[in-house]
Amino acid sequence: APIPPPDLNTCRPNLGPPVPYSCCPPVNTTIVDFRPPNNPPMRTRPAAHLANADYMARYNRAVQLMRNLPATDPRNFMQQSYVHCAYCNGAYFYPAAQGLNGGQIQVHGNWLFFPFHRWYLYFHERILGNLIGDPNFALPYWNWDSPDGMNTPRMYTDSRTYPALFNERRNQQIYTRPVNLATGGSSNMTPQQIANNNCTVMNNEMIRTATTLETFMGSPYRRGNAVPNAPGTSERGSHNAVHRWCGDPRQPAGEDLGNFYSAGRDPIFYGHHANVDRMWTIWRQGRANNQRDFTDTDYLNTQFLFYDENSRLVRVRVADCLDNARLGYQYQTNGVSVPWTNCPP
Ligand code: C2O
Repeated sequence: APIPPPDLNTCRPNLGPPVPYSCCPPVNTTIVDFRPPNNPPMRTRPAAHLANADYMARYNRAVQLMRNLPATDPRNFMQQSYVHCAYCNGAYFYPAAQGLNGGQIQVHGNWLFFPFHRWYLYFHERILGNLIGDPNFALPYWNWDSPDGMNTPRMYTDSRTYPALFNERRNQQIYTRPVNLATGGSSNMTPQQIANNNCTVMNNEMIRTATTLETFMGSPYRRGNAVPNAPGTSERGSHNAVHRWCGDPRQPAGEDLGNFYSAGRDPIFYGHHANVDRMWTIWRQGRANNQRDFTDTDYLNTQFLFYDENSRLVRVRVADCLDNARLGYQYQTNGVSVPWTNCPP
């Protein structure tokens, strides 16, 4: 059977260290089912390093408005970070658990990784657009898979011009060096060597070793299963590396990006995950139609709950997020290269 949606009434408020607060969302007994939009206008998520000043100012303003919402509003910026905490740090259990771990909802290390984060960004983006009155607003993506985008994009580093997109709790190395996708750690490599090495990392996880749905997406995870620890190549590789790269070693648990509970407190998380999501779209495009998605109904019928831009609690199914265009967004391709299909030896 599929993992059921969480029961907000049984969300556990005390998770223990390192989580210092409750990340349970407000309870709402009215739940609406998601309906895919009919012919949605296409929103284009820009590469963060190519975004113009007007876009960056709008995104900054949207996040500022999100931060200004009352602390208990599910659209509030901290509440948005709690979503990740609740789904990832053990706050949600489903009933009739076969032991504590069997009943935990965990969206990492299994086939729910890509769909969960796609939905999470979808609602985050809709809320931001709503706050600035722009239904066409689209999140930026941090194009870390291409040499042009490997440095931290300016919108996240210029604390004077874009204060709402800045965060103190970051590894200071991200301000001076390109991301190291191999380990997320520091190295003695030159920027050129890092770029070449990153190319190989991307080629391996997107092409060479990502030959089946399970190797790329992660292992099945069903109701009654213990939480598998079997992430796909992309999650285990570049995704984890960028979290490690950005998390602040001066903080007790690598906050913010270095821990599930705190990752969503840094706006760079959403740019990072937009690129992770973009990797899913690129990988799917390279597959034959009948091999793009798991057809297992335990996968397709897994459900999550999110608050939308009108603070309605929405129940979504994995099956409704497989095609990003059907959700009304795509990724900028203009001026963006995909260098890792063919790397220097
Ligand atoms: Cu839910 Cu990048 O982690």
